[in-house]
Amino acid sequence: MSSADNKAKRASKNLYQISPSATEYQRLNRQHELIQEIMMGKVFHSPVKDPIRILDVGCGTGAVTYHLGSTFPSAQIYGVDLATIPPTPKKPDSVTFIHGDYHDLLGSEDPYITPGSMDFVFSRLLISGMTTWPSYIRTCHTLLKPNRWLEIQELEFPYYDDSGVISNDWEWFQAYQAGAEAKGLDLSCAVRAADWMREAGFVDVQTKKYCWPHGEWMAERGHEEYRNIGIFLTTEQPRLYQAIVPNMVSGMGYSDEKVKELQRDVLETLNPEEGKHKNYWVTFGKKPS
Ligand SMILES: C[S@@+](CC[C@H](N)C(=O)[O-])C[C@H]1O[C@@H](n2cnc3c(N)ncnc32)[C@H](O)[C@@H]1O
Repeated sequence: MSSADNKAKRASKNLYQISPSATEYQRLNRQHELIQEIMMGKVFHSPVKDPIRILDVGCGTGAVTYHLGSTFPSAQIYGVDLATIPPTPKKPDSVTFIHGDYHDLLGSEDPYITPGSMDFVFSRLLISGMTTWPSYIRTCHTLLKPNRWLEIQELEFPYYDDSGVISNDWEWFQAYQAGAEAKGLDLSCAVRAADWMREAGFVDVQTKKYCWPHGEWMAERGHEEYRNIGIFLTTEQPRLYQAIVPNMVSGMGYSDEKVKELQRDVLETLNPEEGKHKNYWVTFGKKPS
């Protein structure tokens, strides 16, 4: 995975649209805290017991990797990402970061990531880069030991309010969806993960859906743990989608002026409103014995 021969292949698969920067690292770390807040302190849901090796796929800043390291101090934790993980003076020896492409986890030259070696595989928010979901999930099945767990946490693309989906008619939303499809991304991965896991042979597959509110309405309805994420998403989601739109619709024949119009449409549609939200899905399942 980390050989020079794979670099061109890897680059072509790097569809993730946000380049690593201090601002992006800050956004990911804050998002990590807020996801943990709405999950009432949890980071993962799988019943992981006495793990020896854990893999965090597309680990970003390593926020989950470090969490796993401190939760399971006697385990070895591996985080894989194409981007460089920001250095930290507090990195425990049990945490190893591997620079590589998550499309190539199997057949990797990496001695740590081998079939039947893992006690837990975790991934979160790969929606903007993963192009091979069913085969990725089969690979995770191969990497796991029997009776061990895979957990996938992903965001649904549509926006909802209390009456149902509200985003289908938004122009930027339609363009983004078409661009994503043309690039091999699957924006419905959050809702399809459970079926893909069952098809790959996982059992006891469970899902839990969390709300990502746009604004503070969940808190006003008595769910205080959603206040901070609601405030965060109100500014961060429009900023994120505005940044991603040009790459996502590239190659689809839009003029620069039209792309700017789509970016303005992001801002116009993503104002905070009562009930406006996305769904965030946690899916986990066990490789049978
Ligand atoms: C939205 S971030 C999520 C990071 C982390 N999982 C989290 O939840 O904070 C997606 C991550 O996937 C990584 N990524 C995108 N394409 C990748 C690929 N082909 N192989 C490995 N990592 C990739 C990006 O570099 C980025 O760090």
